[in-house]
Amino acid sequence: MIYRETAIILGIMDDLAVELNRILEGTAAWRLLSDFGKRMYFPRGIIAQSGEAKKAASKANGTIGMAFSNGKPMLLPGFKRYMPDFEPEETVAYAPTAGNEKLRELWKNMILRKNPSLDANRISLPVLTPGITAGISYTAELFLNAGQTILSADPAWDNYRLIFEERCGGVLHGIPVFDNGGQLDIPKIRAAILQEAKTGSVRIIFNFPNNPSGYSPTNAETAALVACVEEAAGSADVLVICDDAYFGFFYEDSVCRESIFSRLAGLNERVIAVKTDGPTKEDYSWGFRLAMVTIGSKGLGPEHFDALVTKLTGAIRSSVSCSNTFAQSLFLKVYGDETTHQQKAAFFDTLKERYEAVKQFTRTHKDHPRLSPLPFNSGYFMCLRCTGLDAGKLRRRLLEKHGIGTVSFGSEYLRVAFSSIETDIIPEVFGAIYDTALETF
Ligand SMILES: Cc1ncc(COP(=O)(O)O)c(C=O)c1O
Repeated sequence: MIYRETAIILGIMDDLAVELNRILEGTAAWRLLSDFGKRMYFPRGIIAQSGEAKKAASKANGTIGMAFSNGKPMLLPGFKRYMPDFEPEETVAYAPTAGNEKLRELWKNMILRKNPSLDANRISLPVLTPGITAGISYTAELFLNAGQTILSADPAWDNYRLIFEERCGGVLHGIPVFDNGGQLDIPKIRAAILQEAKTGSVRIIFNFPNNPSGYSPTNAETAALVACVEEAAGSADVLVICDDAYFGFFYEDSVCRESIFSRLAGLNERVIAVKTDGPTKEDYSWGFRLAMVTIGSKGLGPEHFDALVTKLTGAIRSSVSCSNTFAQSLFLKVYGDETTHQQKAAFFDTLKERYEAVKQFTRTHKDHPRLSPLPFNSGYFMCLRCTGLDAGKLRRRLLEKHGIGTVSFGSEYLRVAFSSIETDIIPEVFGAIYDTALETF
């Protein structure tokens, strides 16, 4: 309360932000919010007033900055020619700031179907963002202050550094998550989480299937990770971002089939789980820039979820304003079509075949003196740990001598996206990588 009154007296916060903070006060979400997160709100300005007018302005609606003719957004014939099956409202009109309501509902139902143990009452309505990167970025802005630490696996997707450190001013603390035997090093992860818990709050990002390793935890490992988070919640507020970009690309029976988000969303009042996912990788639509952010917590009710969604919507409004309408409409149409699921299954089989070809190669080339794969069982990638040679130099040599593109992560890891390599050339490509690693250069 003191906080609220002080904020009003000093005039440093909009009344709408103060109101949202009042709703959230006392929850872990409120304690975890960054200064930006506390200031965020969604104005009752153009968007809200235009929404009101849409329902009630029977004579003329002069609210929104679009051009209408005969009650429809004006559409250049050239656009219509290439999008004949869509109405102007589905293409050139602005989308709602938080995304098309139908699509948000559809995605929520899809998440629940893909994660049967997830309790629908424990999660918010997803908010649509222009890509998963944007979803992670907004989440970071709302929950990470400059100077605060966020834990992640090491190695991790390189964009985490850009988002959490360069953009938000936080500190990305990488945990080397695999032990020497190639298993998830749960004791090390637990120690890092509990160490951070001593500060009173923990922020961590889980990314399964992982980029770059291609690893997803088993059921037992998932339970162990959840236990670490629960233990930390005994003394700290915990924010867990679940970057589920590669959800569903599970190639082994041993892999946990649900997102760790489904276990975290109902775990503990002090745990705030944020799922960032979307069609980008799952539905082979990388360039559509469609993704979702869903918040889950045992400690939050509908009014808290609404308040957080409103803050997130404010973050969108103040940056990209809204996402691409056409991509949202197209996704809705395609997912209304029964055949999509079969087509998707056929694509999955292709990726699984590539995965198996890589597995076969690494199994039969186990004793390479300089390259050893990190454990992989899912996703788009596998990653080779380099010993006694520089991964960056190996990458360059592969490109210049063999025309093979890979990505080096620091000097130790070389990532190969098997998702992009045809099955029949996988033995040749990996043969060249393994042979080149033996050369002196
Ligand atoms: C782990 C991870 N998260 C998120 C993303 C970004 O997804 P989007 O293209 O939807 O921003 C990627 C893309 O490479 C990724 O590897």
